[in-house]
Amino acid sequence: MCGIVGYIGGRQAFPVLLNGLRRLEYRGYDSAGVALVDGSGSLKVYKCRGKVADLERFTDSKDVGGTIGIAHTRWATHGEPNDVNAHPHYSQSGNIAMIHNGIIENYSVIRDALSEHGYTFQSATDTEVLVQLIEYIRNTSRCSLLEAVRSALKRVVGAYAIAVVEKDNPDEIIAARKSSPLVVGLGDGEYFLASDATPIVEYTDKVVYVGDEEIVHICRGRELKVMNLDNEQAQIDIRTLELSINQLEKGGYPHFMLKEIHEQPKTIVDCIRGRIPADGSEVVLSGVVANKEKFMGARRIIIVACGTSWHAALIGERAIEDMCRIPVEVEYASEFRYRNPVISPDDVVIAISQSGETADTLAAVELARNAGAFIFGICNVVGSSVARATDSGAYIHVGPEIGVASTKAFTGQVTVLTMLALTLAREKGTVRDEKFRSVAKGLVELPSLIEKVLSQDDKIKDLSKIFTYAHNFIYLGRGYNYPAALEGALKLKEISYIHAEGYPAAEMKHGPIALIDSEMPVVAIAPDDHIYEKTVSNIQEIKARKGKIIAVVSEGNAAIHSLADYCIEVPVTEECLSPIVVSVPLQLLAYYIAVNKGRNVDQPRNLAKSVTVE
Ligand code: G6P
Repeated sequence: MCGIVGYIGGRQAFPVLLNGLRRLEYRGYDSAGVALVDGSGSLKVYKCRGKVADLERFTDSKDVGGTIGIAHTRWATHGEPNDVNAHPHYSQSGNIAMIHNGIIENYSVIRDALSEHGYTFQSATDTEVLVQLIEYIRNTSRCSLLEAVRSALKRVVGAYAIAVVEKDNPDEIIAARKSSPLVVGLGDGEYFLASDATPIVEYTDKVVYVGDEEIVHICRGRELKVMNLDNEQAQIDIRTLELSINQLEKGGYPHFMLKEIHEQPKTIVDCIRGRIPADGSEVVLSGVVANKEKFMGARRIIIVACGTSWHAALIGERAIEDMCRIPVEVEYASEFRYRNPVISPDDVVIAISQSGETADTLAAVELARNAGAFIFGICNVVGSSVARATDSGAYIHVGPEIGVASTKAFTGQVTVLTMLALTLAREKGTVRDEKFRSVAKGLVELPSLIEKVLSQDDKIKDLSKIFTYAHNFIYLGRGYNYPAALEGALKLKEISYIHAEGYPAAEMKHGPIALIDSEMPVVAIAPDDHIYEKTVSNIQEIKARKGKIIAVVSEGNAAIHSLADYCIEVPVTEECLSPIVVSVPLQLLAYYIAVNKGRNVDQPRNLAKSVTVE
């Protein structure tokens, strides 16, 4: 949700900033802009509606010199995406420029107060209000820029990651964060600033993750200073990145999403590495083992998440209840946080978030913390806010996911949740050894099963052509595969903009069956499991109403051919692992339909990968 980048050092800032924006474009792509201060003390701001490539065209042949600058790619919240609302925003005098990721909730009160002092506003954004407030404080209190920023931030309510530069001040960037992420990269005589480490990794592997409500004072040639809003110096914890630049490139694929779908055999290996031996004899999820008394004593487990992570949570719910006999509730983080839920200190709350920055999930974690629950995080991005805000956790280790529609993170999340269920079930003695080993071994074998599914890429591409012009889709599944149906439908709508609904197959007859006619494609997920026959009965009901059936079934299922119009066969696996195996062809189907429709697969309209606003 908006990406911010900054640079100060010996290089020309503009190419570094532009490169950084390209890496952060997954966070929003409504507009882009840059502010540069050059040695002669001039402050140049260039910004326009559209993507980073539009900014690049817009700045072609403009003066982009300067060794200090800040830049922004926007996901619009306040004010429509246009040139004026694009960041950076100027203060009234034009002396201060600021970029912002987040929402200033009390912006209208501040704007009214500033208006009374003669301030006028060009844009409809909350950001412009904050930069004006900073200037107002700087002028009226005759204080430093740092002090003005600190004082302004004490007056705002909301979330922010900001970076501020000033005309006549080519040696200083002030940045700060609350609830929105911010990382500083430490180079040799240079500093980088970004919403995450991806714009930084090609220059340095030394980073500092800025803490919540901290301000960073970045001065050319001086040591980094970090302080809290009360001006107390904070500890600087320098971390080494484990990210490689190759992970951020498309590697020959036309889109990140396709690359990420095809990476899944490897990402599952990375996810289970060091956690399960090849024979499946044990599963060691260290964050669970280290806190086993919390889990063993849990009255219930509450899982909070959003989007695709919420779908993974539903699969985790089934696995944990099935294997561990602990009651599990799955909540949309955005609902949980505002509905006064009953949480007690003997609940365990699991927060799942690929980015680790989703505002609602973070707020749900906060709520659980205040209620005294033990909180376990399942994240992908190392050092992210959820990872830091939780008591313990497990990373999914699938590498950077750049396509906005989540694929490899989903399968990684389900893998970790299954390992968590197995670890707990063995501790509790609620799973037979035979079943334990067969699920653990099933996890070890998953990469080769996914390879088999991926070898059908061309077949699914052909199938996609038949459905490119469908207006609606229904996805059906039962048991473990009901969440897989939800996720399949979400993938399709996110990137193709075709309306799609996931439904529990047997619930169809209570309403949605009215939608079925010969124009309606229905993806029926029906691998061999204990409710296979029941699912087939539901498929019969669709067939009787002339729906077009695309069945996802286990390899060698010949019987289904008489019923389904099209079949996708997937390898047989443990029932609890089947959502992983069936999701892969559904990811491919959505991908190819979107490509056929000419959609921007990696950056679908209106979406952003990291949703740092509530
Ligand atoms: C956004 C993304 C989704 C993601 C959701 C939750 O909506 O587009 O792909 O599932 O946020 O994100 P998280 O990072 O918390 O898993």
